[in-house]
Amino acid sequence: MSTVRKAVIPAAGLGTRVLPATKSMPKEMLPIVDKPAIQFIVEEAVRSGITDILIITNRGKGILEDHFDRSPELEERLAMNPAKADILKEIIDISKLANIQYVRQKETRGLGHAVACAKSFVGNEPFAVLYGDDVIMGDNPTCGQLVKAYEKYGKCAVGVKEVSPQDVQKYCSLKVEHLEGRNYLCTDMVEKPKPEQVMSLFSILGRCVLTPEIFEILEHTAPGAGGEIQLTDAMRQIAMRDGMIAVDFDGKRYDMGNKLGIMQASVEVALKHPEIGDDFRRYLKELASTL
Ligand code: UTP
Repeated sequence: MSTVRKAVIPAAGLGTRVLPATKSMPKEMLPIVDKPAIQFIVEEAVRSGITDILIITNRGKGILEDHFDRSPELEERLAMNPAKADILKEIIDISKLANIQYVRQKETRGLGHAVACAKSFVGNEPFAVLYGDDVIMGDNPTCGQLVKAYEKYGKCAVGVKEVSPQDVQKYCSLKVEHLEGRNYLCTDMVEKPKPEQVMSLFSILGRCVLTPEIFEILEHTAPGAGGEIQLTDAMRQIAMRDGMIAVDFDGKRYDMGNKLGIMQASVEVALKHPEIGDDFRRYLKELASTL
């Protein structure tokens, strides 16, 4: 059995890069063809051995809770039509994916502040963090790859990818040395680095496995880049003291927090979709030939 059974999904951001779509709808609920982004993330956690999930929400995110709840009226209607048996099962199964709880981040003070809201849920166990707007597709769930690294090295782990020199300034930069395979030892990190602060093009993209000591550190972490309490600033202390494992994960990540990422996820999932994949491929080829 996995040693990491709890996960936290911060989903309380304002989503200002995807306005106006996110004015009243959480970006985590934006659909990728026919499934909201956050369901892909919950499914990844479950496939990684996670049984208990805390979603950090805020005002106006009630539809997130509704999505993972039963919906008796809808189920009753679908049950009347034998042709809808498959979708009825799929709808009911969503409510059984995991033991999901919710807590509100009362002020939008940054990802570090959102994670700090999970303190009592986490208790004394290691836990995974899956950012609510980073969808990662792949046969081997990324969260599980990090859990394996945590178990192997006994150190906190972060999921990383090499990004472009332009993008590294928007995310963070890690100081790393290669260990073996896809694993690196990370001994320093900086959030939203200036060009002279870049230590490598490896950035953390949406996943980490942490120990509860992060909460104590977060309590003393001052606001950083953008005036927000940054999780990277707190993790930096662990990286500098004990080292963390940076896992160059096997999987394709889509940033649902920006417009291009949303379109890339939609197109690629549509191409593989059992119901519309063939028709969509034909349409896309036709369209591409006119560009
Ligand atoms: P982002 O920084 O991408 O989210 O945080 P944001 O603030 O919604 O983005 P923009 O810049 O306004 O478009 C990454 C993840 O952390 C969550 C977000 O919901 C997202 O899933 N988050 C961020 C919180 O839960 N609370 C916060 O205070 C900030």
